[in-house]
Amino acid sequence: MKTAALRQAFLDYFKKQGHEVVPTSSLVPADDPTLLFTNAGMNQFKDVFLGREQRNYTRATSSQRCVRAGGKHNDLENVGYTARHHTFFEMLGNFSFGDYFKREAIGYAWEFLTSPDWLGIAADRLWVTVYESDDEAFGIWEKEIGVPAERIIRIGDKGGAYASDNFWQMGDTGPCGPCSEIFYDHGPDVAGGPPGSPEEDGDRYIEIWNVVFMQFNRTADGEMQPLPKPSVDTGMGLERITAVLQGVHSNYEIDLFQDLLEAASRLLGGVATSEASLRVIADHIRSCAFLIADGVMPSNEGRGFVLRRIIRRAARHGNKLGATGPFFHKLVGALVELMGEAYPELIKSQAQIERILLQEEEQFAKTLDKGLRLLEQDIAALQGSEIPGKTIFTLYDTYGFPVDLTNDIARERGLALDYDGYEKEMEAQRDRARASSKFGLDYNAGLSLSGATEFTGYDSIDGHETVQVVLVDGVETQATVGDKAIVVLERTPFYAESGGQVGDRGTLSWPGGRFEVEDTRKDGKNHLHIGRVVAGDLKPGMQVDARIDHGQRSATALNHSATHLLHAALRRVLGDHVSQKGSLVNPERLRFDFSHFEPLTAEQIAEIEDLVNEQVLANAPVQIEVTDMAGAEARGAVALFGEKYGDSVRVLSMGKDDFSVELCGGTHVSRTGDIGLFHITAETGISSGVRRIEAVTGKGALDWMRSTESQIREVGTLVRSGREALVEKVQSVVDRNRQLEKELEQLKGKLASSAGNDLAGSAREINGYNVVAEEMPGADRKALLDTVDQLKNKLGKAIVILATVEDGKVVLVAGVTKDAVAKVRAGDLIRDIAQMVGGKGGGRPDMAQGGGSDPEKLSEALASVPDWVAKATG
Ligand code: ALA
Repeated sequence: MKTAALRQAFLDYFKKQGHEVVPTSSLVPADDPTLLFTNAGMNQFKDVFLGREQRNYTRATSSQRCVRAGGKHNDLENVGYTARHHTFFEMLGNFSFGDYFKREAIGYAWEFLTSPDWLGIAADRLWVTVYESDDEAFGIWEKEIGVPAERIIRIGDKGGAYASDNFWQMGDTGPCGPCSEIFYDHGPDVAGGPPGSPEEDGDRYIEIWNVVFMQFNRTADGEMQPLPKPSVDTGMGLERITAVLQGVHSNYEIDLFQDLLEAASRLLGGVATSEASLRVIADHIRSCAFLIADGVMPSNEGRGFVLRRIIRRAARHGNKLGATGPFFHKLVGALVELMGEAYPELIKSQAQIERILLQEEEQFAKTLDKGLRLLEQDIAALQGSEIPGKTIFTLYDTYGFPVDLTNDIARERGLALDYDGYEKEMEAQRDRARASSKFGLDYNAGLSLSGATEFTGYDSIDGHETVQVVLVDGVETQATVGDKAIVVLERTPFYAESGGQVGDRGTLSWPGGRFEVEDTRKDGKNHLHIGRVVAGDLKPGMQVDARIDHGQRSATALNHSATHLLHAALRRVLGDHVSQKGSLVNPERLRFDFSHFEPLTAEQIAEIEDLVNEQVLANAPVQIEVTDMAGAEARGAVALFGEKYGDSVRVLSMGKDDFSVELCGGTHVSRTGDIGLFHITAETGISSGVRRIEAVTGKGALDWMRSTESQIREVGTLVRSGREALVEKVQSVVDRNRQLEKELEQLKGKLASSAGNDLAGSAREINGYNVVAEEMPGADRKALLDTVDQLKNKLGKAIVILATVEDGKVVLVAGVTKDAVAKVRAGDLIRDIAQMVGGKGGGRPDMAQGGGSDPEKLSEALASVPDWVAKATG
């Protein structure tokens, strides 16, 4: 059975059991700061498990794309070296949200695996594990399924409560529970022992399916809160189960990987497909391509940095296999052929992915060689078997070698890394960074509020509301005059910062008291009103009048709505590859970052402005529709990267003929005409493949025009010209300036030659040499050089030294004619004279330059020249 057929069979089986087939979510988890990448099928259902979100089904199934690199569940360093670790893989899963539990979950898994109607795997090849104390699961496996007791293994905690392979946790916080894993025995010719045995890490017994009995929500302080209803979350690695069905012992031997490995081998001159480095490359192209398709860009922090690390690791392994230039990006085509059908987004982004990978490869190639050389040197000089922390740090900091790359190289040489030393260097650097950064308080740190604030601000700007929580320094309490505090209300008209739109400001007031809200942010589903009590006392349970700063909100709305029109205009003018990479919308302006590879031309900018302003002038109503994701897709809505969309979404359409249709939770104008005017003030590049547009609207646009106008007027006054003739006038001023500079140059030349004439008269003869040692006030170095040349031509056998003072410093130039250099060298002369004015000098025998910091001594120094010459020539 091929990989694709297996994926389909799984979804078909669970559909038959009444499960909703849910599409895979993005690798960038929506709205979940606890997670770097989507690492399990259950991620998109996290809030459903926690009871914070309702869906109209209680059973679901999916084939989820996952990345396990960076963060919890990090497999990066094992990739290529084991038969079954990947940075990217697909997880088949079935889920019950308070519907069925252990019995059915185990029954379904067993039926799908062993029934001849489905996978038909021989039952005696399967082993299972349960959490040590889970007698219930043990009993179901033994009594109801009929697995012999000796093949059911209890796995206990290792080194801490719930620290067991059979207790699954999504991250440090979130849904978790005991689990039961199903293992496949690849047979005695593969090394390894059953789970729980000392040899369990071998490749013989491979976990293929994890069935998690979700029961708790782990909070930040380690508390295990029971979930509203016991649930089920399962995960089966598509690549592993395919290996079982295709009768191979390594995931890299399944059809999909073989095809990918062969493509990579062709690119690298026929390297054997069993090479570990080739496997690394075949694995990494999948995670890199999908991450980029999901909007991640290589960078030096967060997700982008993990992506960069993976690309660099692939590049390094290619280098090891003899690649002489960028090669990695050329694999995208093969991947698209293999996986494009199941993931059309890959086809759409192919060109973009190739471009970004190529750029990264080129950039890394520049430092790879240097870094490797440094590492080789350090390894050669190594005393023990540990690469010092300082080397690891320098490689990272200067050459862009991620630590896992250095570790990879060390591992190949049987060396270890001094992680402690490295951490110390990193810590020192972090201290330096902290000292120079001006980051304020992290308002969200340490908060663990439950519940949800109801947002009323789409329709109202004020309301009479109940205070739920008052936090001072992160502690629930009450606040009094002067306290900086965070206030949570049951309902609020205050918009909390999200989707690039800044949080509302305003006031909470009550008889005898007032709280100034300086910012509003989100923590989970709560709106945090951040600010200061300026009068009275504030306690939970009190009623307050909440009122937003309406002026700020309206100005922000203009910019937010204009951002949607801008996004749509960019896609029309530049193409569909344009996608939003970030945005900031505040009352003053808007900033929009998007993917595009070259600077925009003036014509493109004008066209974009025109398109937006056309929509503004059309003054069409802005329509908001709350629907489900399918409805939104049918409307052609653009969903944004990194945003979370639940069952019901807000679709915003704007402009004539639905010029822009986007999913958005922000606050907007009611008609496009409210925007007034849209004007782009800047277009710049902010990182590879990402451009930024800054623009103003409404009164902001008017202010911008006014200040431009007044600058033009000032320029007009300076050059004495009216507006119409201004460009011509400035042009003529510039031309005249150029002309004057030219004339000045000529005059300086003439001056030098006449100075030469004058100075020739001051020559003294000493031992048959004509000696000139003079100061030329007001001359510059170039004039000195010219004059020295003149004098050499004029005086025959001559020794000349000229000086000037520029910006308080002495400048010296000396020249000696060819027939004189036998006895006197210009370099020697200038060295000695420069020393007397507190400086240095040197040069050729016939021409030398120098300087000094002591102009006071200059006359004396020049006066000593005749004696110097007399001595040298006497
Ligand atoms: N969420 C579980 C896992 O990832 C199924 O193993």
